[in-house]
Amino acid sequence: MEYEFLKIERIDGISIMKVSAPKSLNALNSTILREIGDFVENLDDTTRVLIITGDGEKAFVAGADIAEMANLNEEEGYKFGALGAKVFRRIETLDIPVIAAVNGFALGGGCELAMACDIRIASNKAKFGQPEVGLGITPGFSGTYRLAKLVGQGYAKEMIFTGKAIRADEALRIGLVNAVYEPEELMPKAIEMAQKMTENAPLAIKYAKQCINESYDLVVEDAMELESRNFGKCFATQDQKDGMAAFLEKRKPVFNAK
Ligand code: CAA
Repeated sequence: MEYEFLKIERIDGISIMKVSAPKSLNALNSTILREIGDFVENLDDTTRVLIITGDGEKAFVAGADIAEMANLNEEEGYKFGALGAKVFRRIETLDIPVIAAVNGFALGGGCELAMACDIRIASNKAKFGQPEVGLGITPGFSGTYRLAKLVGQGYAKEMIFTGKAIRADEALRIGLVNAVYEPEELMPKAIEMAQKMTENAPLAIKYAKQCINESYDLVVEDAMELESRNFGKCFATQDQKDGMAAFLEKRKPVFNAK
């Protein structure tokens, strides 16, 4: 499918999805949300890592599209929020790692998009915030849930109630991002991280991601049982056979399983 608002690039097993709506600093309208949903739903089997970033130098994503939201009624507001929540949840539950390379403003729905990714790295020009209450709305694409989970309720409430934007170094301090780079280093670093992931066993990464994602919502015994089950499942894969044989034979493993 051809996308109006997404630019897709490919480097070996890595797909790069750039949100591209230059007139509105990549703000997410419902068409863009549907395009992202379609893209992630139809990722080809050979994509081992997805990197999400924003087109241009200024913004990752400056939020949901305020022009589109301005005249929504309650039912339409609910549907718009639910659409974003569903698409972002699909990103979060993909079998492969997803890295957000946050190159500029990540506000409102943009911060929420970054938080739906497994890992966030940022340019030192990036700014993060949930400014929705200044527009008379709450965060709508699961920001109340994910921000509190990532940085704790106290800091999440401060950010959401004040609507303040924080710089990349502060985002690093509170654990919202893993690393901060000069703008020109951001994509090379994202690709380098992705490449390291593509060297490892894809099914093992999928099972580990599932454990990390789901264990927060499970009691400890169930989280441990899930990990034991996924650990066991690895032993039914060729990747485990070759991964361990390669170690013992002092050679590089060949991972093929999906
Ligand atoms: N929606 C629609 N248009 C947007 C937008 C958004 N979220 N953010 C920026 N734009 C548009 C501006 O309206 C402007 O358009 P025009 O050139 O036609 O006037 C263009 O992008 C450039 O923006 P600015 O001139 O404002 O650029 P700036 O450098 O002065 O400021 C900014 C940059 C601080 C990011 C500012 O644009 C801004 O505050 N944007 C809105 C941020 C925001 O409130 N995001 C949350 C939206 S609500 C949400 O996301 C709900 C949810 O959780 C689902």
